Amino acid sequence: MKDFIAGLPKCELHLHIEGTLEPELKFELARRNGLRLPYPGVEQMRAAYTFDSLPSFLRIYYEGMRVLCTEPDFYDLAMAYLRKAAEQNVRYAEIFFDPQAHTSRGVPFDVVIRGLRRALMDAEARLGVRAQLIMCFLRDFQAEYAMATLLESLPYKEWIAGVGLDSDEKGNPPVKFAAVYERARQEGYLLTMHCDVDQDDAVEHIRQAVEDIGVNRIDHGVNILEDQRLVEVVLERGMGLTCCPISNGYVTDSMKAEAIRKLMDLGVRITVSSDDPAYFGAYVGENLEALQSVLQLTRDELARLERDAFEIAWLPRHVKDAYL
Ligand code: ADE
Ligand code: ZN
Repeated sequence: MKDFIAGLPKCELHLHIEGTLEPELKFELARRNGLRLPYPGVEQMRAAYTFDSLPSFLRIYYEGMRVLCTEPDFYDLAMAYLRKAAEQNVRYAEIFFDPQAHTSRGVPFDVVIRGLRRALMDAEARLGVRAQLIMCFLRDFQAEYAMATLLESLPYKEWIAGVGLDSDEKGNPPVKFAAVYERARQEGYLLTMHCDVDQDDAVEHIRQAVEDIGVNRIDHGVNILEDQRLVEVVLERGMGLTCCPISNGYVTDSMKAEAIRKLMDLGVRITVSSDDPAYFGAYVGENLEALQSVLQLTRDELARLERDAFEIAWLPRHVKDAYL
């Protein structure tokens, strides 16, 4: 099964580029930018990755990205992920980036996006991995800052497939960003957002995302199982959920494998991704292996997960068909 999973052509739809920053590269970038890290070495840094909730993960995630300062830093970050993706036979990836996590530290939007974009172009040419960017707003910042970020992105619209919403969900419901999402839709962006697993008001957040905002897909979203009506809406619309089993195991009490199985059985389009692989110690291949071993997924079911991922990818029909 390990070999089958390794050889499966993959589509990764839920991946935060800042969450791919491995400790080795963190140290290299800190040295390059003359910054000190609060750990003596890579081992000690990895040992500090002990999360048991979304906020406890986010604290370390934001602290880690302080070393990202220049265009080459963002290039190196994305190129390192895309090399790893190519090794795991990822053929196509949609990559989240968090511009406000950088602009709020004084790093210009232009620096962030140019570095990422250059890596995507090089990876397609040299590694045969195609990728697009999804710009995420930080939901624990004000909606006005998200709107300003959306406007700042417009000159780069051709480089951005859509928008997402991430960071701390507590007290930050989807409707807080209704006007931002409406404008993003008018500008031609596709829409997704995190509805993280087992958060307060999880089902109401999913309802808002689906019915009030009208997202094209949902990141995580497994609590939808608690509302049969919403499951039916998602089925009718052919919407997909981007699930991240190993990430679930870090921010909640389990991988939520049984919930994923139920959603698959109901016919919901489910995909498996890695979320923040440098922090959760698992890229997409390891996520598929972990889910397979718990659920005893067959080869056909594993192939279906990847087919569903290409099916809900933000690509023109003829491009998807070439992967399927
Ligand atoms: N930012 C990076 N990873 C995230 C996650 N899993 N949930 C919310 N915000 C995030
Ligand atoms: Zn995520």
